[in-house]
Amino acid sequence: MAHSLEGRLALVVGGSGGIGAASARLLAGAGARVVVTHTDRSAEAAASLARSLPGAGHLALPADVADSASLLALRDAVRAQCGEALHVLVNAAGFTKPVPHADLDALDDALIDRMFAVNWRGQFAAIRAFAPMLKASGNGLIVSISSISGQTGIGSSIAYCAVKAGIDVMTKSLARALAPEIRVMSVAPGVVDTGFVGRPAGFNAKTAAATPLRRIATAEDVGEAVLACATSLRFSTGATVVVDGGRSL
Ligand SMILES: NC(=O)c1ccc[n+]([C@@H]2O[C@H](COP(=O)([O-])OP(=O)(O)OC[C@H]3O[C@@H](n4cnc5c(N)ncnc54)[C@H](OP(=O)(O)O)[C@@H]3O)[C@@H](O)[C@H]2O)c1
Repeated sequence: MAHSLEGRLALVVGGSGGIGAASARLLAGAGARVVVTHTDRSAEAAASLARSLPGAGHLALPADVADSASLLALRDAVRAQCGEALHVLVNAAGFTKPVPHADLDALDDALIDRMFAVNWRGQFAAIRAFAPMLKASGNGLIVSISSISGQTGIGSSIAYCAVKAGIDVMTKSLARALAPEIRVMSVAPGVVDTGFVGRPAGFNAKTAAATPLRRIATAEDVGEAVLACATSLRFSTGATVVVDGGRSL
C-alpha cells in the first residue's frame, strides 16, 4: 500500500475535461477523495463524473479560473465540506484557439490576454488560493498540465506555446518558493486524444505515424503521469514529466 492515496484529498481544476477526468479517476482509484471543478458548460458532466468515481465523498464544484474570486469561493467551499488540508492540486483547465504562427495579425490582443488569463494566470491563481491548504497537509503536491509546445514552440498558436513554457518555468520557481511543505510538478503531453482542439480529420493518424512510439497519447497516459507525481515520484519537485511518446525528439 506504499502508493495508496487513502485519506488524501485531491482537487482537479478542469476535472470535467478529458485529462482532468482521467486524472480524477486514477487518483480516486488510488484511494483519494476527489473534488472536480466545472464551468457552467459542464456542470452535469462533472456531477456525473463525481458520482461514478470509486470510493466515497467525491464532489463537483464550480470554478472559472479566469475569475480569481470564483477560485476563492471554491477554496471556501472545499474547506467547508472537506476540511483544512488539501494534499493534491491538479491544474488541468485550459483552452486554445488555433492561429497559424505566420499570421501575426490573427493573434490579436484580446486572444493573447484571454490565453494568459485562462492558461497561466488561472493556474497561478488556483495555486495562490490553495497554497495554505496544501501547506496544512504537511505533504502537498501541485501538478499543472503544460505541453511539449512550451519546449518546441510548435503548437496551436504562439501564445499557447508561450503560456505552456510559462507553466513549466512557474513550476520551477514555485518548487523553490513552496518547499519543503509542497512539491510542484508539471506534466507536458504531446498530442492527446481529447476534444481539446477541433483537429482536422487525419491529424491524429498523421501525428501518430510521426511519433517514435507510433500513437498519440490517451487522457489516461497523462493521468498516469499525474498519479505518478503523487505516488512514485516522491523526491521530485520543480520537474516537468514529458508524456509525448517521443514526439518532441
Ligand atoms: N489534448 C491535448 O492534445 C493536450 C496536449 C497538451 C496539453 N494539453 C493541456 O491539457 C489540459 C487539459 O486539456 P484536455 O485535453 O483535457 O481538454 P478538454 O477536454 O477540453 O478539457 C479542458 C478543461 O478545461 C476547462 N476549462 C476551460 N476554460 C476554463 C475556465 N475558464 N475555468 C475553468 N475551467 C475551464 C474545461 O471546462 P468546460 O468543459 O466546462 O469548458 C475542461 O474541463 C489543458 O491545459 C491543455 O492545454 C492538452
